Amino acid sequence: MKHYLSIADLAPQELQRLLNLAVELKEEWKRGGNPPLLKGKTLAMVFQKPSLRTRVSFDMAMIHLGGQALYLSPFEIQLGKRESVPDVARVISRYTDAIMARVFAHSDILALAKYSRVPVINGLSDYNHPCQGLADLLTIVENKGAALQGKKLTFIGDGNNVATSLLFGACKLGMDFAIVGPPGYNLPSDVWELGQRFAAESGSQLLATDDLAPAVAGSDVIYTDVWASMGQEEEAQERARIFAPYQVNRELLAQAHDDVIVMHCLPAHRGYEITDEVADGPHSVLWDQAENRMHAQKAILVDLLVEEQS
Ligand code: CP
Ligand code: NVA
Repeated sequence: MKHYLSIADLAPQELQRLLNLAVELKEEWKRGGNPPLLKGKTLAMVFQKPSLRTRVSFDMAMIHLGGQALYLSPFEIQLGKRESVPDVARVISRYTDAIMARVFAHSDILALAKYSRVPVINGLSDYNHPCQGLADLLTIVENKGAALQGKKLTFIGDGNNVATSLLFGACKLGMDFAIVGPPGYNLPSDVWELGQRFAAESGSQLLATDDLAPAVAGSDVIYTDVWASMGQEEEAQERARIFAPYQVNRELLAQAHDDVIVMHCLPAHRGYEITDEVADGPHSVLWDQAENRMHAQKAILVDLLVEEQS
């Protein structure tokens, strides 16, 4: 059974194939619409956390491809509370053709995949956010060209789930990756080691530092995310103080390439990790990035649910 749980699981050629498929599906949709490749197919969307982009873009992706999605809020299934995660997987997968889940613990995603009869898609866990990662690679390719070797992505802020997927994606495709943030908030060591392994295979250069200057110098893509992720709300105040020197603002952008693009997975906490001026400025690709969630997820769905692809 094939799932979509982490970019780390994909061979570089598979990742590239998904990106190409996303490009095709996007172009097709812009020309007037996609054919009903998922006619009669259904997707259950299980959420333990709030969402705007993931929820709406998956729902619309299914509709555009002729299928249907069912939203299940955190209060309905109560994953692991009302019913065990394996039992939820066993039951939902008797009804639907795929399951997308947004969870707290990544072990819940792994358990869903283990006990499901149908493909499971990770719609964000505390470990990673592979749907975001694929959409972001699509946005980078659109802005910087398909040859990512030697281009540099700088992630500024918390070594979180989004940073993890970007590290894996960049290293699989040979892109240089730097992460910069306050000491003690870097990527987990097992994640970094995995990134180093992929980088050794692809030729990516890696940097993890608390010093902004070397991380931002020569950067083609500046990326940031919230300083406190969902589930870390109690730490938000303390983190706002600790991360303050790492705000993406005009002064910081001046240190990057002139044609640098600025990315944020959203939701943004304007005035904290990013200023209004940058979020709404000429380097920002935030809205294309959000749109690309839908196109990337169409590629994931078609890859998992359609047997014969041209
Ligand atoms: N970027 C992202 O996953 O947004 P949502 O939390 O709104 O789904
Ligand atoms: N790191 C953020 C991403 C939100 C899309 C979180 O987990 O809350």
